[in-house]
Amino acid sequence: MDFGHYDDERREYVITRPDTPLPWINYLGSEAYFGIISNTAGGYSFYQDARLRRLTRYRYNGVPSDAGGRYLYLRDDADGTFWSPTWQPTKTDLDAYECRHGLGYTTISSSFAGIEASTRYFVPVGENLEVWDLTVTNTREDAAELSLFSALEFALWDANDDATNFQRNFNIGEVEVVDGVIYHKTEYRERRDHFAYFACSEEVTGFDTQRRFFLGPYRGWDAPAVVEEGEATNSIAHGWAPFGSHHLRLVLEPGERKRVLFVLGYYENPRDRKFDPPGSEVINKEGVLPIIARQLDPAHVDRQFAELGAYWDRILGTLQVDTPDVHTNRMVGTWNAYQNIVTFNLSRSASLFESGVGRGIGFRDSNQDLLGFVHMVPERARQRLLDIAATQLDSGGAYHQYQPLTKRGNDAVGSGFNDDPLWLVIAVVAYLKETGDWSLLDELVPFDNQPGTEAPIEEHLRRSIGYTLANLGPHRLPLIGRADWNDCLNLNTFSEEPGEGFQTATIRDDTVAESVLIGGLFVMAAEEMAAIAQRRGHGDEVEEYRRAAHRMRAAVDEHGWDGNWFRRAYDAFGEPIGSASCAEGQIFIESQGVCGMAGIGLEDGRLARAMQAVNERLATRHGIVVHQPAFTHYDPRLGEISSYPPGYKENAGVFCHANPWIMICETMLGHGDQAHDYYLRINPSAREDISEIHRCEPYVYAQMIAGKDAATHGEAKNSWLTGTAAWSFVAVTQWILGIRPEHDGLRVHPVVPSSWDGFTVTRVFRGVTFTVTVRRTGPGGEVTLRCDGAAIEGDLVAVPTDRDQVAVEVEIG
Ligand code: GLC
Ligand code: GLC
Repeated sequence: MDFGHYDDERREYVITRPDTPLPWINYLGSEAYFGIISNTAGGYSFYQDARLRRLTRYRYNGVPSDAGGRYLYLRDDADGTFWSPTWQPTKTDLDAYECRHGLGYTTISSSFAGIEASTRYFVPVGENLEVWDLTVTNTREDAAELSLFSALEFALWDANDDATNFQRNFNIGEVEVVDGVIYHKTEYRERRDHFAYFACSEEVTGFDTQRRFFLGPYRGWDAPAVVEEGEATNSIAHGWAPFGSHHLRLVLEPGERKRVLFVLGYYENPRDRKFDPPGSEVINKEGVLPIIARQLDPAHVDRQFAELGAYWDRILGTLQVDTPDVHTNRMVGTWNAYQNIVTFNLSRSASLFESGVGRGIGFRDSNQDLLGFVHMVPERARQRLLDIAATQLDSGGAYHQYQPLTKRGNDAVGSGFNDDPLWLVIAVVAYLKETGDWSLLDELVPFDNQPGTEAPIEEHLRRSIGYTLANLGPHRLPLIGRADWNDCLNLNTFSEEPGEGFQTATIRDDTVAESVLIGGLFVMAAEEMAAIAQRRGHGDEVEEYRRAAHRMRAAVDEHGWDGNWFRRAYDAFGEPIGSASCAEGQIFIESQGVCGMAGIGLEDGRLARAMQAVNERLATRHGIVVHQPAFTHYDPRLGEISSYPPGYKENAGVFCHANPWIMICETMLGHGDQAHDYYLRINPSAREDISEIHRCEPYVYAQMIAGKDAATHGEAKNSWLTGTAAWSFVAVTQWILGIRPEHDGLRVHPVVPSSWDGFTVTRVFRGVTFTVTVRRTGPGGEVTLRCDGAAIEGDLVAVPTDRDQVAVEVEIG
């Protein structure tokens, strides 16, 4: 079944029927004010933190699904017919429907009974608000007398409290309505200095701010009493459920078109100037009124929308490709890059699978997200690194997560995920290679946000390395702690209590269970640290890091190699996991990928054997599964991984995040066909044709695709917020297309499918635009480069200091 298609020229995904298999969402906002919006206008908004500053309410896992959003209702006042121009919530059988998800905006258009309506939702760059830009057109032969209602439900700020603490919350709701602007000010009377406002560009004939009056008793969003009646009640919320609805009357002559703007925003007043007059309980609107006035000016809105386009053009302009494969082109050039920015902004906080109240910013997650982001907005990547490093502990360990609003480590989850600190090294190195900005290493940042503990970033990295070295197990491999990259491989908790957190349960003893994955990651990180020390002139450290890497490599060689692939771990009894000797879980993807990327086994043929084993045992047409055989029973010695039914999530699902590691290893072996084949198996665009099976959005990666042991093999879940985005981007751009930042310049070493005659890449690197033109003349073993016409040695192009354009011609021989 066909649900939509790409419009590559406009960088939009066009959804052509509203009843997609799941709500297909987009994100609004780029820096502080964010929202998610589905193809039928469902979703919610928040300022900075999806948990602590929720503006509008959304009911996760509701029935019917995706209820609550940015709704409009149109009503024909002649006969009382009403409908939603975004299909939900009335689900009227529209005569035409189209949703265009673009970069930072969504436009939903429809036609019903001769009335066309098109609404563009977006957040202007640099503003803490969203605009709903509606155009209604009468295509009838007669004049139309219409009522238009807006409708949204305010959340009482803390989304978790909002969904649970009814005994208090039903009493505290407060609003003001002045000149048609609805102000939501719950808790403003006491400790909050912020409020929300919902304004309309046209004269309103009425409003509602109490949900009960708008919907009517025992009614849902699909048939609100006020809409049915055609008359707002001018309700003022006192407690219960503060709501925002404007009622407008529109008379449209045949062919006439009317534009109406709605603005929903967030505003904070200085604490000592909250009220006007002082001492009253009335919001001081001095600061917000000019903003509202500006935002309701159509010319200003048009300018802002143009700026949003320019913003994205500038960001995506840093890397554009033209290859023989359309799926590669559109993902790399637009959608994968866009998803990288979204994951960078939101980590794992707010999507249709992440409710915004759980995890904040993940330490390992955000470090990895940065790998796909750093070339686009390096200044923000830099700030993120400083924020993350400030949640590192002085032991070198790290908080697993932190809250974006407070930037403080999350005590509920704590630390002890022993791979976490090493990802900081990987991310900082990516920043250094991209920007050449070595001053980052001298920035002073505290440990655990404690004033007085400030140390340079370089020292933070040393502690990361030191943390692994201080936590080695019986095979001299790194202890796994609570878990490594696979949060669900919990070898030390032995949980038997229903509902106990697998990641937070008491650890019995963590001096035995070891991770081969962390071993590989350590080799990578320690070698990068040696290169850093070299450049910083710390000679003795260079040797220390090299020796540490060498010793770890030896431990992996001796205890991490199973004969045909890398083992995964050792459990709390010192027994191997991911070994041919195991009954289940004999081979895992992660250690093949990470040890391979560290170059272990590359020279002596072991990596090639491991890749062969991955291909034979783990690869499916829907991607590469985590391990085989799947675990058939819950085993407290393994933890959450064995809690999932076989084929789902970490129990042998296609955990897409780890797939690009295998693609990278295949390119290291020179296998361009295999690498790109794996790339396409999880590439959303390449899976568009099987949307009925895949079910998630066909324009972004999902965390998981059900594996071959699952009843629904091929079905995706957890779209949008996943490390798959950054890693797929790294695999395809840096390793398959082969354009890779290094400390000394840009490496150009493509390993592409044999059927490709060539391709071009435009890459802005340290302020210089590299135009790379690749031509195939042979099977692919050799790469020769010419730089501005002159042949160069090797495959590394230095960054010129005297010009801002370089033409690189590449021959694949
Ligand atoms: C989730 C987590 C990530 C973890 C992965 C594998 O994506 O966000 O931290 O590495 O699962 O368990
Ligand atoms: C759950 C998820 C896993 C995620 C973890 C984060 O275990 O299955 O994917 O990484 O939670 O805490």
